[in-house]
Amino acid sequence: MEKIIVRPNGPLRGNVRIGGAKNAALPILAASLLGTEDIILEDVPKLKDVEIILEVLRGLGAKIKYEGNLLIINSKNLTSYETNYDLMSKMRASFLVMGPLIARMGIAVNSLPGGCAIGSRPIDLHLKGFKALGADVEMTHGNISAKAKKLVGKRIYLDFPSVGATENIMMAATLADGETILENCAMEPEIVDLANFLNKLGAKITGAGTSNIKIKGVEKLFGARHQIIPDRIVAGTFMVAAAITSGDIFLDNIITNHMKPIIAKLEEAGAEIITNGDKLQIKGREKISPIEIKTLPHPGFPTDMQAQFMSMLTQAEGQSSIIETVFENRFMHVDELKKMGAVIKVVDREAIILGKNKLYGSKVNATDLRGGAALILAGLVAEGETQISEIQHIDRGYEDIVGKFKNLGADITRI
Ligand code: UD1
Repeated sequence: MEKIIVRPNGPLRGNVRIGGAKNAALPILAASLLGTEDIILEDVPKLKDVEIILEVLRGLGAKIKYEGNLLIINSKNLTSYETNYDLMSKMRASFLVMGPLIARMGIAVNSLPGGCAIGSRPIDLHLKGFKALGADVEMTHGNISAKAKKLVGKRIYLDFPSVGATENIMMAATLADGETILENCAMEPEIVDLANFLNKLGAKITGAGTSNIKIKGVEKLFGARHQIIPDRIVAGTFMVAAAITSGDIFLDNIITNHMKPIIAKLEEAGAEIITNGDKLQIKGREKISPIEIKTLPHPGFPTDMQAQFMSMLTQAEGQSSIIETVFENRFMHVDELKKMGAVIKVVDREAIILGKNKLYGSKVNATDLRGGAALILAGLVAEGETQISEIQHIDRGYEDIVGKFKNLGADITRI
């Protein structure tokens, strides 16, 4: 079993280039099923989750090859509408092929999705959208099937601005008859990237990045070349690393606008942040101030940064609080941080973090993707050796995380 070992080694300094965002790449790869010509993608991160969705696409008949750093996909001849059960159970985002498949093939069969255990994570909003567009949705023996000769555009109101549901319904609607209007939809930057990609394929989508997206159905989608946006959560994780170690880190390939909710909270905690075009510098201070955070759909503070901030706040001078409103069970990293000496009290959806407490290297488990990253951050300042197990969770979302931290001067190895 592989582990990551971290020891404290002072302030981190240096440069990191931020690669393509996992959460933009996954829906864009699913959307590639809609194109009938070559699709060329740049900056697709080399991650376990990406490998899984590529396996899903291959199983459906897509042809996939790498040319240097470019990923080329051709979905002209799809041969199946049914997703392999094992792949679906490994990753929830595999469910994103459902929308494109119904639109393209008139039928899609999937098993219920798996993924990080950070809440019940239902898919009712995705299914509500497919039904509204005229699909016949059935659930039998853990399988979901959706059928429609031709989807028909509709006005759809999402009860909650779900990222996945917005993406799945938007993809399904690209080939529908007439116009779809998605109301109260998610506004995450990854949704804008998906819409931009679909428009390059020939779709007619406007309003992505606002709470109302309009999709005018077209007959057919073609091919395109597209570069995936940088990963704001990976960038945010390195920013917290600078803040917690009083370091000085330069990030390359940043879209500053996407970083605003994270920048605001790091500045409140005392870090100095300088942005310049697609570059960002963050200088951590000796003293971290306590802050209050509430996770929210974009443009609020991202739930995917909550765990990393919690590690940092164990080192703040005073009491901080984090309220998690997006997922109902996303404090699994709390017990691991407590093993390291953190003093954290959870009541319902709020965690109260009492700082500053000395952290001690311990044997801990990456309970989920971002919780795992949080343990590396804690290990950077904990006395002695932190041994992190279950690191397959971390590999799902961070490309060469050990190499990148080493380049910044961290004492970190993978064994
Ligand atoms: C995506 C991201 C994930 C991030 C999350 C919230 C990807 C691949 N993953 O996940 O990293 O943490 O957005 O920013 O992009 N919900 C329902 N019914 C549904 C769908 C969702 O009730 O049909 C609920 C979920 O249980 C959850 C909340 O809505 O409590 C947010 O989920 P959603 O925005 O859909 O997240 P994902 O798309 O799964």
